[in-house]
Amino acid sequence: MRTYLVGGAVRDKLLGIPVRERDWVVVGATVEEMLRRKYVQVGKDFPVFLHPDTHEEYALARTERKTGPGYKGFEVNASPQVTLDEDLQRRDLTVNSIALDEQGTLFDPYGGQADIEARVLRHVSPAFREDPLRVLRVARFAARFANFGFRVADETVLLMKKIVESGELEHLVAERVWRELETALKEQAPVVFVKVLRHCNALKIILPEVDNLFGVPQPEKYHPEIDTGVHTLMCVEQATRLSDDPVVRYATLIHDVGKGVTPESKWPSHHGHEKFGLSLQKDITTRLRVPNEYAQLARLVCEYHTHMHRLRELRPSTLLSLLESLDGFRRPERIQQFLLACEADAKGRTGLEQRPYPQKEMLMAALRAAAAVDVGALLKDRPKPEHDVKSFVRQKRMAAIQAQRGSAEPDANTGEH
Ligand code: CTP
Repeated sequence: MRTYLVGGAVRDKLLGIPVRERDWVVVGATVEEMLRRKYVQVGKDFPVFLHPDTHEEYALARTERKTGPGYKGFEVNASPQVTLDEDLQRRDLTVNSIALDEQGTLFDPYGGQADIEARVLRHVSPAFREDPLRVLRVARFAARFANFGFRVADETVLLMKKIVESGELEHLVAERVWRELETALKEQAPVVFVKVLRHCNALKIILPEVDNLFGVPQPEKYHPEIDTGVHTLMCVEQATRLSDDPVVRYATLIHDVGKGVTPESKWPSHHGHEKFGLSLQKDITTRLRVPNEYAQLARLVCEYHTHMHRLRELRPSTLLSLLESLDGFRRPERIQQFLLACEADAKGRTGLEQRPYPQKEMLMAALRAAAAVDVGALLKDRPKPEHDVKSFVRQKRMAAIQAQRGSAEPDANTGEH
């Protein structure tokens, strides 16, 4: 029985970056032998074990053969005769198919080191096709390693296109797709994830609502970049610059999806895109089983980003309603997330990337003023106790916002949609 370090740990070591997780492959062993050595079996579909002390993952070397569509359609051979080479061959990318033995010798039959040096993400063999999720994985690795200058090999893009054409992506279960998308949103350049998916035609399967934005014009006055898809990518770049929070980045990515269904006759205007966007976001949430935290912020940004940009034109009552919709009195952290996504939208425009976003401070000032209203004291002293409490408190808060605004300096106009 021989064990080798494989996968991301070897890749990251060679790239000179911290190793996140260590995975091992075991050659020449049986399940019984592993159990005898007190490894704990965890894999249901193939023999994977946890080391009794380190709890790191040890998988028996295996080959896989696809027998049908979907995640489960696999025939796995993990007999002790399976060689290291065979195990490396069934893996996704050459950079992930390098093994390191206990003496520090590298086994690299598929040119992973050369590809790390050349900064290329290249599939190992035609077996890449056997797991369509790899299309998303490649896009995610491209997003993670964009700053290293990695690109996807032309032949891998071709293969990814073929996988998309075959319809296999449609068999992916929602959880696996969402996990890739969420991980990609945490990477250094999530925008690259979207671009790679689009380049191999996978975006229209995974997020058709975003794909539809390409080719849709917006008014040049507010959007010098014109194309809504290009704007969306620019917004994601801004969101990445402004925040590490994947929830903010996700809300930014899908804030304008409503513009994808504006009838062409109405272009370049997108009146009502917030409402159409909400309905499309609902489809995304259901299809990908998007967690609440993500779906909720995305909804708020979709519905209220234009309010936010026109903040100084809003009546105090509308401004207060906005604060209430954001649940701003109880959840100040969500307001911050909302503001970051709105700022990313305002700056995700050609030539306007550096402009200030004073609306952010204006909303916070209004929130502080409204929150400073001492509801308890007011309720005690209220002239007519039979008054509707809610509207009484609202009136006081509106007055506080009005007073705060009266004292505020007027800002340069940056209104748009
Ligand atoms: N692997 C694969 N195909 C998949 C999933 C995994 O070939 N669909 C292989 C790759 O060799 C990969 C290894 O299993 O390197 C471990 O998978 P995983 O932990 O998902 O990825 P890592 O490459 O280790 O990357 P990370 O740094 O994200 O853990």
